[in-house]
This record gives sequence, C-alpha cells and structure tokens, in this order.
Amino acid sequence: MSTHLRSHDWFGRKDKDGIIYRSWMKNQGMPTDMFDGRPVIGICNTFSELTPCNAHFRDHAEAVKRGVLEAGGFPVEFPIMSLGETLLKPTAMLFRNLASMDAEESIRGNPIDGVVLLTGCDKTTPSTVMGAASVGLPTIVVPGGPMLNGRYKGQTIGSGTHVWKFDEDMKTGKMTQEECEYAESCMSRSIGHCMTMGTASTMAVMVESLGLTLSGASAIPAADSRKKVMAQLSGRRIVEMVKENLTIDKILTREAFENAIKVNAAVGGSSNFIIHLAAIAGRIGVDLKLDDFDAIGSKIPLLLNLMPSGKYLMEDFYYAGGLPVILNELKKELHQNVITVTGKNHQENIVGTTDNYNADVIAAYNKPFIPEAGIVVVKGNLAENGAVIKPSAATPALMKHTGRAVVFESIEDYHARVDDPELDIDENCVMVLKYVGPVGYPGMPEVGNMALPKKILEKGIKDMVRISDGRMSGTAYGTAVLHVSPESAIGGALALVQNGDMIELNVEKRLLHLHVSDEELAKRRAAWASPKPAATRGYVSMYIKHVMGADKGADLDFLQGSSGSEVTRDSH
Ligand code: FES
Ligand code: MG
Repeated sequence: MSTHLRSHDWFGRKDKDGIIYRSWMKNQGMPTDMFDGRPVIGICNTFSELTPCNAHFRDHAEAVKRGVLEAGGFPVEFPIMSLGETLLKPTAMLFRNLASMDAEESIRGNPIDGVVLLTGCDKTTPSTVMGAASVGLPTIVVPGGPMLNGRYKGQTIGSGTHVWKFDEDMKTGKMTQEECEYAESCMSRSIGHCMTMGTASTMAVMVESLGLTLSGASAIPAADSRKKVMAQLSGRRIVEMVKENLTIDKILTREAFENAIKVNAAVGGSSNFIIHLAAIAGRIGVDLKLDDFDAIGSKIPLLLNLMPSGKYLMEDFYYAGGLPVILNELKKELHQNVITVTGKNHQENIVGTTDNYNADVIAAYNKPFIPEAGIVVVKGNLAENGAVIKPSAATPALMKHTGRAVVFESIEDYHARVDDPELDIDENCVMVLKYVGPVGYPGMPEVGNMALPKKILEKGIKDMVRISDGRMSGTAYGTAVLHVSPESAIGGALALVQNGDMIELNVEKRLLHLHVSDEELAKRRAAWASPKPAATRGYVSMYIKHVMGADKGADLDFLQGSSGSEVTRDSH
C-alpha cells in the first residue's frame, strides 16, 4: 500500500470537516468502515439517454463496482457531461474540451484515489482521458463496446458507413424512404457504439494501444457478456493500481503515443484520431507534432479489413481475436519498453491470446490488405500548418490530382447549390468548403466528406477530391483532404480560394498547392474580411477565443498541461 491516499485528506479527518465529508456520504447507506482508508475509486460515467452509444453504462458501472468491492476498494460513481455524436448540435466536437474540463475538475475536486473512465461514443473517450491526464491519478478506461453487426436484406451494414450509401441511394432513386427507415432499425440493433472502424472504435483501439485498458478490451461487443467481465476485472485492477501508485503519466509516455499511431494505421482508424491524440499529448506533456503522425504511421500496413476501409465490422474483429492479434503482428514495430495498466507491456499482456481465427479479417504483417495505410499529412500554400488525408479510405487514382476549384463559401451555400443542375462542376473538379474549422463553424464538424453533386452520382462516379478545414466522420470514405490549417475563419489561405483556381494534391509528395501567385493571394487577402464571431457570450465565445488549430489537437490553449491532483483548501 502506498503511504498516503489523497482520499484520506477527506475521510480520515478527525475534525469538523471530517464530519462533513463522511456524514453526508453515509446517507447512501455506507457503513463507517468504508471510510477506513481503503482506496476510493471514482467511476466516471458518461451514461446518457441522449448518447445512445453509452446508454447501457449503468450496467457497466455496476460491474466495475463489483470488481472494486472485491478488491477492497470503495467505488463511487459520478456523472459528467456526455457527448452524443448523433444528436448534439452544432457538433459534439465543440464540447469535447468542455467535457474534458468537467472530467478534470470532477476528478480533482473529489476524494478519489483512482478513476475508471466509462467511455463509448466518439468524444466521450478523448474528453475523459484529456481530463484525467490533466489530474494524473491512476486511471483505467473501460470502453463501452461496439454494437452487433447490422444486417439488412441479407447484407451486412455498418454504422455510419451505410448512412452515406443509403443517402446516395435515396438521391439516385435506388431506395425509398420506407426502405430507408427499415434499414435504420437494422443498422442499430443492439446496445453499443458504431461498429465500423469509425471514431468510437478508433478511440477504443487508441486507449488499448496506449495501455490504458486491460488487454483485449476494445473489440468486445457491448452486448457480449464478456464486456461486463472486462468491466469487473477493470474494477479489481484499478484498486491495485492505486496501491502501486501506477499513475497515468507512467503509462502515457512518448513511446506509448508512437505505439498508438502505428496501431491506428494498422487498423485503418479514423482521421479524428489525430486531433484527439494530439490533444491528449498536450495534456500529458508529450511533444507530438502533426508531422510525427505521418513520419511514424504512414508506412504501416493495413492489417484489419473493417469498414470504412474494408468490409467487416467490430464483432468480426472480436471473433478473429481482437487487438492482441494486431499487437502481435506489429510486435517488431512497437516499443516494448512501455507499461500498461497491468504494469506489464503489451507483449507480456497478450501471451496466449494471439491466435488469428480469421485471416480475411486480420492480415499477417507480411501479407497486408494495403502496404502503407497510415494517415498522411500534406502541406503547401493552401495548408501551411498541414492538412490530413486517410489513404485507406480514399481512391488511389485521386492521390495525384490537379483540378479546378468549385468553392462553397459555407455549409449553407453547399446545401443550397450542390444539387443544382446548373452548377458548373464535373468529376475532375476539386470541391472546396470554407468556414467549417474549429473557429469557423464553430467546433469543426464532420462535414469534410461532403456528398457529391447528384448529377455526378448519377453518372456512377463515387469519389472526387474534396478539401475543407472540417473533419470527416470516422465511418466515412472518400478522397477528402481534411483539417486544413490554418483554418479559413482566421484567414488561412483556404479563405482565399476562388472558383476556377487550380488546386494540386500530390499525396506521394505530401503536397497541397493552390496554383495562384503570391501577389494575387496578397491582393485577395487585403480584400478579405474575417467573418463575424459565432458567439459573443458563454462557452462558445470562450471556445472561439482560445481554441488552437486542428494541427495542435483543437484543445483550448489554457487547458494544455496538468494541474496535478492536489487541492489544498477545504470547502467549509
Ligand atoms: Fe456514437 Fe458513432 S454515433 S459511436
Ligand atoms: Mg463519428
């Protein structure tokens, strides 16, 4: 047992404050000996019925509590702001940093010695990990698990990925509204988060590869009883972590981040991974640059055949063996001098669990689905701080492409004109969308994979180069250049693009170039006026004043780093 638990500064007190700290807790029926100095474990629950992906978390919290009690700890569950990807407007991403502040202050201000993060839907993982990293207690993540495979009229359908397909089929008359509503039920047929390798699955894999979960946690479907077993075992383990003083900073080293980047490439993870991992690195004090993602990850082969890059879903990944198989295939690529929540490294954790039961789902390292799959960073006069593209979800033939810009000045402009038969556009053009970055929208929504014009879809064309300062859903596909930084709303060159300009994308050369002279750009810049701020009060006003660029993880500047776990003053 480590010498001093911080919860003792509340519950161990022999004065008036001690009465206050213990007595009110006893109204929940807690015996006096619960306050005898045993580890107090916070269970940070992102349950909400407005976050359907996390709506089963009361069950998981109970399983974690069982584990904590078995190991001699004192479990205390608390809610924090829950961010649901599908309902929250204008985008859940706008509130990721707010939720991280909620997590951070809730952990620090309370008598907690270690924390279990219950996470699922896209933003609930990074927000809680960012908050926990800024406090620095022993921390373990229990990912909530994906939904079971969607099935519709005999075919397998994936969350999100098939939304884009159904939308195209409706536009081109291949699907009726009634068929679509039936398909919706088929897509979301169990508890859990998106079961494609969208952002939620990407985040689950990210925390497992960073070492923040028990081994094999990320792929277990939410509806599988073994998910609750994982939750219970995590409850047992966090109590031990407190006794060992195994704090989150000992796990989140630079090497752990490098491992996560490689694993993300191998599983075909979401482009949103970049933004969230960069933000977590900023909290824990690891120097991670946008270029590092390309340098470390882009040459890693694709080993997982999941939508949107491939054809299977998370349930199939679990049956094939889950992440331990990938970690084993990648073992020569990964740092092994890093510990995980078990106190051991990945190789030690996965002993006996590395058999691959389906080679069509998980490929061997030397027989990959794509030889180089990681997210690529492109730069040029159109994106001086960089932009990203996910080659495994893009069209190889468009990786080197020069085309005429068709510019949409806002998301409203795009919606108003994209399907206009008179729109001057063909499949060789480059679609450009402005003002959808962190400051511009605000909150950097997932609109970067803008649907193609109806008249182009009707020709049977499925992909075009699209450029924006927004993001793309991890479940989406297409040759989308995303996260252009600096963003248009703060005067980035994207704001200056005009219809008819030629834009060159060359992924091999890592280039994104606007073929307009510096003199002409200077002229356009002088005539450019910054848009009116999206808000003048409240959180949004603070957000737009302090949000950093996408290349830095779009965290608020004043949230970088950690404030530790110490609180010196009492509440009364
Ligand atoms: Fe919640 Fe996809 S909408 S994980
Ligand atoms: Mg998403």
